[in-house]
Parts: sequence; structure tokens; C-alpha cells
Amino acid sequence: MKLVQKTMKYYDAISSSYNRLYGVEQGKKWGFVKERVRVCGRVLDLGCGTGFLLRELNAVGLDLSKAMLLRASGKRFCGDAHSLPFKDNVFDWVVSLSLLQDVPDPERVVREARRVGGNLVFSVLKKNWSKERLARLGFEKIWEEKKDWIGFTRARPSSQSSKR
Ligand SMILES: C[S@@+](CC[C@H](N)C(=O)[O-])C[C@H]1O[C@@H](n2cnc3c(N)ncnc32)[C@H](O)[C@@H]1O
Repeated sequence: MKLVQKTMKYYDAISSSYNRLYGVEQGKKWGFVKERVRVCGRVLDLGCGTGFLLRELNAVGLDLSKAMLLRASGKRFCGDAHSLPFKDNVFDWVVSLSLLQDVPDPERVVREARRVGGNLVFSVLKKNWSKERLARLGFEKIWEEKKDWIGFTRARPSSQSSKR
């Protein structure tokens, strides 16, 4: 079975307990991001999962797992981050919390995010990723959170910028 399908099955299977298991942790991660960048405008939440950011950011969500998406509300799409069903430059921001370490081709996912979006802010678990690896993907700024590296990069000069 391909890695993407395995990942989908995994998240389908844990969808009913995801918020209980990871909700607090992901909320704190987002709190950390919010202190550093102001995400606004047209936002894509890539790998939105159960969608805790969709309402707050009035964002469009995309996720592989239908079962995770069923727990979300708002505008959302089922799809693969390697091949996004959006036109070029339709978003001001692409936010992605804890997706990148699951994908077989992170370079392609970041390339797709750059194609559709403006500024990018991505988190990856430190236990699976190094800061250098995130830097090699073109993130200009990398912050260290408790369990994650958080990468930020501005794709278009006119877009929102980092506060620090
Ligand atoms: C750790 S969860 C994070 C969910 C959400 N961002 C959060 O912070 O609660 C990772 C999510 O990424 C999704 N995902 C993994 N690989 C993906 C892919 N190739 N395309 C789209 N979504 C994917 C999973 O289905 C899962 O919902």
C-alpha cells in the first residue's frame, strides 16, 4: 500500500479520538504561531484534519482523510497535498500544522503550497525532522516550539509579513 493511502487509513481510524488526543497540543502550537505571524485574508489550511482552524481563520481546508473532514465544518476539500485542486495564487496564506512529516514528497507539497498561496507557515515534529531540512525547503525563518519546528516564508513581497 502506498504511504499516502496508509496515512489516510491511519487518520480515518483515529478520527473519532483525534481531538481528545491532540486537540490541546495543536491548540498550543497554533497559539505559538499566532504570536509570531498574523495570518489573514484568504487562507488555506493544508491537512486541516478536524478543522479547528477553519472557523477562526475563515479558512478553506484540505485533507486526505474523509473521516477527519467529517468532523470539521466550513469550506473544505478532500484531496492530496501533493496535487492541490486550486489555481495559482488564490490564497494569501497557507497554514499547515503537523502535515509535512507524513507526506512522501515534502518538496512537492511545499512547491504546491507556494503555487497556490502567498505566505507559508508549516509545523513539523522535531522528533522526525531537523531544522536544516526545513531550511532546505526554503523557509526563511524557523522557530523552535516545544515539540515542533515552525517554518515561515513569504512567497510574495506584498503579502503579510512576520512580526519579529
Ligand atoms: C497530525 S494531523 C494535523 C491536523 C490539523 N492540522 C491539526 O493541527 O489538528 C495531520 C493531517 O494531515 C492529513 N494529511 C496527511 N497526509 C496528507 C496529504 N498527502 N494530503 C492531505 N492531507 C494529508 C491527515 O489526514 C491529517 O488529518
